Amino acid sequence: MVKKKACIFISGRGSNLSSILKRSREYNFPVKIKLVISNNSKAKGLLYAKKNSIPWLIVNTKKRNYENQILMEIKKWKVNLICLAGYMRIISKDFIRNFGNDIINIHPSLLPKFKGLGTFQRILKSNEIKTGCTVHYVNEKLDDGKIIVKKSFFINENDDIESLRKKTQTLEYKAYSEALIKIFRYN
Ligand code: GRF
Repeated sequence: MVKKKACIFISGRGSNLSSILKRSREYNFPVKIKLVISNNSKAKGLLYAKKNSIPWLIVNTKKRNYENQILMEIKKWKVNLICLAGYMRIISKDFIRNFGNDIINIHPSLLPKFKGLGTFQRILKSNEIKTGCTVHYVNEKLDDGKIIVKKSFFINENDDIESLRKKTQTLEYKAYSEALIKIFRYN
């Protein structure tokens, strides 16, 4: 199987990166990770790239042309797909157009509910019965594109921000891999 080349964008812990990386070692998983990009030089997730000899790049988002730098690197590695995994920057319209391939993201809520930051606080406040995560295509609006995979669980009365975060993240690892399989099975 010819695997698609993915670039993973991170800003922090990188546990979704680690989970995709593990799955990508399976011979029939449709994606391999070619490049990791972080806007944060202290992102723990960079260690996964370093330990596994995956090329990585730290970008300085204060520089006006940092997205061009990313595009150049992505072209160099012939990346077919960008996976945002805890990347805390908005991707510009121009970048989306210039890349021209799929960009997908994972969000810790059942979209279209609870777009944006501070998700778990807002979920608890609004007495939801269920929550979960969503993998979706990225468009120029925040947490808005077409949904690829959603996974949910029931909220307990004892749940707090931390327990919701943990349960959601466990589901995220499954959802991200499923989404990648789904995208490339139907392409
Ligand atoms: C995930 O919970 C994801 O939903 C959100 O950022 C978090 C990233 O976690 N977009 P990690 O860096 O993959 O551990």
